[in-house]
Amino acid sequence: MTNNDIDFNNKTILITGGAGFIGSNLAFYFQDNYPQSRVVIFDCFRSEGVFSNGNLKSYGHYKNLIGFSGDVICGNINNKSNLALLNVYKFDYIFHQAAISDTRVYDQEIIMKTNVNSFYDLLEIAKKDKASIVYASSGATYGSLPSPQTVGKENPENPYGFSKLLMDQIAHRYIDENPEMIIVGLRFFNVFGPREFYKGKTASMIIQLAHQILDGKAPRLFEGSDEIERDFIYVEDVIQANIKACKPKKSGVYNVGTGIPRSFQEIADILQKELGSNLGTEYFPNPYDGYQEHTQANISSTRKNLRFKPRFSLEEGIKTYIPEIKRLHGKEIS
Ligand SMILES: NC(=O)c1ccc[n+]([C@@H]2O[C@H](COP(=O)([O-])OP(=O)(O)OC[C@H]3O[C@@H](n4cnc5c(N)ncnc54)[C@H](O)[C@@H]3O)[C@@H](O)[C@H]2O)c1
Repeated sequence: MTNNDIDFNNKTILITGGAGFIGSNLAFYFQDNYPQSRVVIFDCFRSEGVFSNGNLKSYGHYKNLIGFSGDVICGNINNKSNLALLNVYKFDYIFHQAAISDTRVYDQEIIMKTNVNSFYDLLEIAKKDKASIVYASSGATYGSLPSPQTVGKENPENPYGFSKLLMDQIAHRYIDENPEMIIVGLRFFNVFGPREFYKGKTASMIIQLAHQILDGKAPRLFEGSDEIERDFIYVEDVIQANIKACKPKKSGVYNVGTGIPRSFQEIADILQKELGSNLGTEYFPNPYDGYQEHTQANISSTRKNLRFKPRFSLEEGIKTYIPEIKRLHGKEIS
C-alpha cells in the first residue's frame, strides 16, 4: 500500500543507514511500490568493533538487503571522502537514518561526531541537490519528562538523546534560513518489526521476549512491569511517517508513535497468547537508574501537518510480525 500521492518512480532516493532496521524497510518499500525509483543506500555496515558496553559499533547487516536491487555504497558518514562518493548522484529525496542507534553508548565524542557533525553534511547535500530531507530523531530527546511527550519540551538524559536534540535544533535553523527546503525530523518512539533482528541486544523487547518464549522459557521482565509503559510502534507505520514527511504541510520536528502507551507486561501477555504458550513471567530488579517509566507520544501535530495516522495497534503489529519472529528463532546473528 502506498502512503501518499507522490510518484517516486524515476526519482533518486538516498537512504543513509539503509542496511539497518528502519533504513532497509524503507528501501524495500520503494523497491516494491515504485520499481522505477533509483534507491541508493549508504551504510558503513557492521565490523567487529565494539563499544565499552560490549555492543557493536554499527548494526548494518547484508542480510537485511537480500533481494534489494538498488545501489549500495559502503561508507562512513564521518568520512568526507566517503560522502563524496555520493556526488555522482543528484538526489530528489534523502532519508537520513544512519546513526549510532544504541542509547546506552556513553562515548560522547563518537556519538556527537556520528550523529551531529555528519548531519550538516547531509543537509548540505540536500541543499545542493534541492532534495527533501527526512531524518531520524528520537523519543530519547525527552528523557524521563512526564507523558505525553510533546515537541518543544525536551530533557535528554543520555548522550544519544542529546545528539538527536542537537540535530533537531540544527534542522530548525536550516528551516529558518532556507524556507524553500523541505526538512522533517521524526522522533521515533519504540519501533519494532521485521529486520530489527540484527540489532541483537538493542532490538525491541518484542522480538527478545518472543524468542525467550519460543525457547520454552518464561519471559523475563523488570519487577513492576505492569506499570512501565511505552509507546510501541510497528515499523510499517514508521515507514508511513517517513513517506508522508516528504509532503508536509510544514517542515519541522514531529513525534512518531501511536499515542497509546502499553505496558511491558501486556507485551509478554500478547506474545504468549499469539505463540500459544502459558509459561508465566519471571521478574528481576531493574538495574538501571533514571529508567524511562512511561512514554506516550503526543502526535497531534504529526496528524495535522504530516497527515500521519497509525494503522497498527500493538496487537496487530505483533500478529503481523509473528511469522518473521518464528522464522528467525534460533538463527545466528553473524
Ligand atoms: N528503532 C528504534 O526504536 C528507534 C527509535 C528512535 C530513533 N531511532 C533512530 O532511527 C534511525 C534508524 O534506527 P534503526 O533502529 O534502524 O537502527 P540501526 O542501528 O539498525 O540502523 C542504523 C544504521 O546506520 C548505520 N551506521 C551507523 N553508524 C554509521 C556511520 N558512521 N556511517 C554510516 N552508517 C552508519 C548502521 O550500520 C546501521 O545500518 C537511527 O537514527 C536511530 O537513532 C530508532
